[in-house]
Order: sequence, then C-alpha cells, then structure tokens
Amino acid sequence: MRTSVLIFSAPLLMALLCSTNANAEARLTVHTDQTGPVIERNVYGHFIEHLGRAIYDGIWVGEESDIPNTRGWRNDVVEALKAIRVPVLRWPGGCFADTYHWRDGIGPRDQRPSRVNILWGEIQESNAVGTHEYFDLVEQLGAEAYVNGNLGTGTPREMADWVEYMTSSSPYGLASERIANGREKPFKLHHFGIGNESWGCGGGMSPEYYTSLYKHYSTFLRTPWTYPIQTQWIASGGHGYGDDVNAGGMTEWTDYLTENIEPDFLLGFNAVSFHYYTHPQGTALSEKKGPASGFPETQWISTLARTLLMDGYLEANRKVLDRNDPDNSVAFYVDEWGSWYDPTPDTNPAFLEQATTLRDALVTGLNFHIFHRHADRVTMTSPAQMVNVLQAPVITRGNDMVLTPTYYAYKMHVPFQGATRLDMQLKKVPKYSHAGQSIPALSATAAVSEDHGVVIGLINTDPHQSHTLRLNLTGSKSESEWLGEVLTAKTMDAYNTFSEPQVITPRTVDIDLQATNSVITVPAKSMMVIRQK
Ligand code: AHR
Repeated sequence: MRTSVLIFSAPLLMALLCSTNANAEARLTVHTDQTGPVIERNVYGHFIEHLGRAIYDGIWVGEESDIPNTRGWRNDVVEALKAIRVPVLRWPGGCFADTYHWRDGIGPRDQRPSRVNILWGEIQESNAVGTHEYFDLVEQLGAEAYVNGNLGTGTPREMADWVEYMTSSSPYGLASERIANGREKPFKLHHFGIGNESWGCGGGMSPEYYTSLYKHYSTFLRTPWTYPIQTQWIASGGHGYGDDVNAGGMTEWTDYLTENIEPDFLLGFNAVSFHYYTHPQGTALSEKKGPASGFPETQWISTLARTLLMDGYLEANRKVLDRNDPDNSVAFYVDEWGSWYDPTPDTNPAFLEQATTLRDALVTGLNFHIFHRHADRVTMTSPAQMVNVLQAPVITRGNDMVLTPTYYAYKMHVPFQGATRLDMQLKKVPKYSHAGQSIPALSATAAVSEDHGVVIGLINTDPHQSHTLRLNLTGSKSESEWLGEVLTAKTMDAYNTFSEPQVITPRTVDIDLQATNSVITVPAKSMMVIRQK
C-alpha cells in the first residue's frame, strides 16, 4: 500500500487541489468488506405527469412530427434517458392522477375525447398519450411501470377495470378490448398507486378516511394476473413541510396506514409513498419560493439545508415502520422530491418550468446519499419531474434538447444502481456557514457492485472552498486503480442553455488512490463519484 496523491487531469482542478489545508482534513473510512442493504435500482426512478410540457411538447411529439421519434416518443430524449438507465417510471400523476379517467386514453387517437387539464393551467388534454403509449415508453426505456390510480374522482369499478385491462390474460372481459386496441400480451404492471397526495390535491382526506377507501378499492384490484408478476400496491402517505422535521403530517400517515392495513394478499399493501419538495423559502403553493437562477448565497445554503431535512423525515418514518412493521414487509417510496422554485419569468406559471442549475445537482446528490442511508426501507424514489418540469434532467424546446446538471447527477450515480451499500464513517466534517445558517460542508456515500467495484460519492456544499478528506479503505477490496468524475462550475447557478448546452458537464479525473491514508480534495460546490476501474 502506498500513500496516494490525487492527480486531476484538468488544470482548474489541479489549482483547487493545491489550495487545500491538511489541518482541516475530514476523515472517511470505508469498510469494503462490511456491507449493508442493496441500493435498489428503483431508488433512481423517475416521474412524469400530464403537466405543462412534461409530456406534450416535451417527450411526446406524436408520430407525425418531423422530430425523429418512435411511435410518438422523441428519440433523442429516450436515448438520453436510456443512458441514465431509468429503472421505473411513475405516471400519469401527481395531482393529475386523481382526475384521470383511463378510458379517455385508449382506442384510436383521433377518437379520444379532449378534456381540460383543470389542475395544471386549464389547457387542453388531448389524451393522445394514454395507457398503450405509456407502456410503449416504459418498454422503450427498459423500465418498470408505476401507474398511479384515481382514487379522488374515480370509482372502485373504474380502478379495478384499469388493472384488469392492463394485466388480464383471460380470453374474456377487458383483455379482449386491450387486444382489439393492439396489445395482445398483458402489460407488466410492477407498481400501482392508490391515490396521490390524498391529504391534499387527491381529496383532502384524513388518514382514517383514506385507509377505509384504500381497503375498499384495493379489495377489487387483486386479479389472478397481478399476482404472478407481484404488483406492488402503494398507499398514498404523508409529506414533509420543508422547514421542520417535527411538523405535522409527516409520520401520522405512515403510522395510521401501517397500524390499520395488513400487508396481506387481499387487502394489503407493499409500500407507503411520501413526498417532500425543497424550497429555498416558503412552503405553501402561494408563497414566493425564490428564483431558480440568479439567487443569493442565502438561498444556496437554505436550499441545501432544507434538502438535508429529508434525512430527518426518513428517520422519523423508519422509526414508525420499524415499530409497526418489524419484518420490513412495507417499503417507503419517496415518489416525489426535488427542488421547486418560482417559475421561469414569461412562462405559464402552471407549467412549473424552472432553470436547473448546479444547486439542483447538489440537491440531487445529497438526496441520493440520504436514500442510500435508508436503503433498507427506501426502495423506490422519483424526483419531480423527468422532462421540462421542476428540476428536470431533460429540457426540450422545438427540435432541441438540453441535459441539465440534474441529468449529470443521475449519470454519475449509475454505478450505485443495484450496488450494495458499504459501511463507512465520515468524521471531523467541516461546517459551511453563511448568514447565520450552517450545514456540513462534506457528505459521502459508498457502495460496492460486481460491475463497478467500490464506488464512493462525495459532495462539497461550500461554494467558496475546496475541502480535503483523508480516506481509509479497509478490507480486501481496497487495492485497485481508480477513476472519477467531478461536476462543478464557476458559479452556484450555472446551467446549460440551448445556446450553451455544455456550461456544466462532468469532467473525468485521473486518480492515483491506492491505499489507506489517501487524501482526496473535493472542489468547492461540487459533486464527485470515484470508483474502482
Ligand atoms: O410535481 C408537481 C405536483 O406536486 C404533483 O402533481 C403533486 O403530487 C405534488 O404536489
């Protein structure tokens, strides 16, 4: 074993390396032979809703479009999403799910009814994208399906019929209608959500009322066809408020659901869903949240501080789950999360369009680190949303497509998909402080996989200073060649535009990191992923 030196190929990074202070080193010990739970691939899932330009004028252009597409889904976006290995895709909402009537979206497209999207800007919903189109996208991506059912304005019959339509292999009933609409084989329904945000846009329900409805609806969903593929049934759960992990609404849903719904075959459930959005300030829909770009440092730190609250939310919910479900049969799906700012000026505010900057890449990475810490319960997550909405990885305009810093955060973390978490300790972590707020300057996560060996993720939240950490790798997997990538930019709010799409992209770094006692420098406001070759 030899003491290591980090050699970065980019001169900028070399300069950053030289400015480090050995006295301020944090200590990171990674035990390469001490493993925790698997980080399920679905932790890196995605979500798309009938909202603004997420689908129409986003990833869906229609078969007749000049933009190259496969059966209506644009090829450049699908290819980009395949490169981040989207493992699961939640659809059709969001709040929209509780207003969606699936029969509107089947049959010949030119005969589908036009509706008003009452939730998101009262625009036309053409229903050009329905069940068959969604499953086509899921199959093009090689992802699992997560369909969210309508508990708010639908009926038990409507929901049961949808499940039968999607999954039945019977020669009778709704399968014949599906076959007449062009799909012989049943669709694979991996996950089915019963309502969305039922405490709010999904019907303003109490946990007690929702639980009764859950049992009522779910009784009729179990079909002979969902069983063989083990559809996961998801109950709509609570949410975080954004400034206080002890605020109400956070664990009471998890508690009530797990106390009152048995995880059995007939009525039970497999997961509770949870939503938490990160705003720099304000939490209510009507409140100013702060701009997505051109923000002051006070909003850089407040955004990162608030995103770190996810850890407390998950911790509090795990405690409840561990008490009510000690066998760990109920998972926790964080199926909406991410940053939410004021809409881009001169866009329809109901479309929730915002610039996605370096800050959002760090929001994304910090949440990944937190999800890994809770990997035994958190087995699926999806940020809001996949294309053109909130902190989207992909933005489109006309023929063009831009990949955002969020996209690159996903790309860099692909090696964590399906990897096994490693035990690690991060000590002597410096603080980053500004205007009376303080957060840890460094965050770390580690895992091991057959394909990628040991993978370590590092984040420096401090926008001014690089920070060093001394790395100790223990165990048999410590000897190796390493390679790495770093994502940073000149400014906190750097983002890629249609005219300058490469402002912020990951840079490869050469790493000579052979043994224990190696020093790693994490540049200011950056995210790194290093892994064994
Ligand atoms: O992602 C936008 C909206 O945020 C979703 O429709 C809803 O579930 C949440 O409140």
